[in-house]
Amino acid sequence: MIREAERDGALQPGDTIVEGTAGNTGIGIAHVCNARGYDCVIFMPDNQSREKVEILETLGAEVRVVPTVPYSNDMNYQKQADRYARARDGALWVNQFDNTANRRAHYESTGPEIWRQTDGAIDAFVCAVGTGGTIAGVSQYLKQQRDNIEIMLLDCVGSALFNYVTTGVATLSEGSSITEGIGNARITDNLAGAAIDGALQISDQDMIDTVYRLLREEGWFLGSSTGVNVYGAIEVARRLGPGHTVVTVLCDGGGKYRSRLYNRQWLEDKGFRVA
Ligand SMILES: Cc1ncc(COP(=O)(O)O)c(C=O)c1O
Repeated sequence: MIREAERDGALQPGDTIVEGTAGNTGIGIAHVCNARGYDCVIFMPDNQSREKVEILETLGAEVRVVPTVPYSNDMNYQKQADRYARARDGALWVNQFDNTANRRAHYESTGPEIWRQTDGAIDAFVCAVGTGGTIAGVSQYLKQQRDNIEIMLLDCVGSALFNYVTTGVATLSEGSSITEGIGNARITDNLAGAAIDGALQISDQDMIDTVYRLLREEGWFLGSSTGVNVYGAIEVARRLGPGHTVVTVLCDGGGKYRSRLYNRQWLEDKGFRVA
C-alpha cells in the first residue's frame, strides 16, 4: 500500500502516513514510516489491547485512541483517520479496508509463498478476515493455479461475514467477541468478489482452548486470530481426512495480548474457562 502510494505520487518524502487500525497494520506502518522517513499517526478503537498502543508509541507513532463505535457512526476510528488526513497538508490515509493494494500484496507475495512452500500440494486455505486482504489475495492466486483448492472463511461471533458467505446477506451475527483484528460488519472493497467456498463460525471459547493448547503442546505463544485460524484448519482437516494439506496463517504473537487473552482473571471475569 505504501509502495503504491509512493509510485502514484500520493506520498512525498517527509509526509505523514495516517491509518485507522486495530493495531497490527499500524505497527507494520510505523515500521515502514521509520524505514522510509515518514511521520505516523494511528487511530485505534479503545477495545484493543493496551500492549499494541505501547508498541506503536515505542515505534514513534502518535496514537489516538478513540471510542469504539460502529462504522456507520462518523466518529468511527476509520472515518476519523480519513478526516484527519484530509485536513492535514502532506498526509495520506492508507485505508487498508478499501485500498485494494492490500489484497494485491497478498496476491503477489503470500499466495505464491504458500504455493511454493506446499509444492502446489494444497487442498484448502482457511483464515479469519479483517480487511479481507489476506483471504482475497491468497484465494485469487491459489485458484489461478488450481481451481479446486477450497477457500474457507473463518469468522468470530458478532461479525457479518459468516452470514455473508453462507446466505449472501451481510447481517451481523449474535454476540460479541474478544478476538482482535478480525470480524467485520461490512463487505470491504478488498473482500468484495473474493472466491470463497464456505465459512465457519468459531466461538471465543474454542479460540481460547486452541491458543492455550498451542502454548502447552507446541510451545507457540500466539494471538487470538491465530487461535481462530488453527481451530478452523483442524475442523477442515478432520472433514477432509488424512493425506490432505490445509494451510492457514499464524497472524501474530501472544505478547501483545498478555493483559487479556493471557490473563486468566480477565478471561474468567468474562465467563470463559482456561483449562
Ligand atoms: C492479528 C490479525 N489477525 C488477522 C487479521 C486479518 O487479516 P486481513 O486484514 O488480511 O483480513 C489482522 C489484520 O490486520 C490482524 O491484525
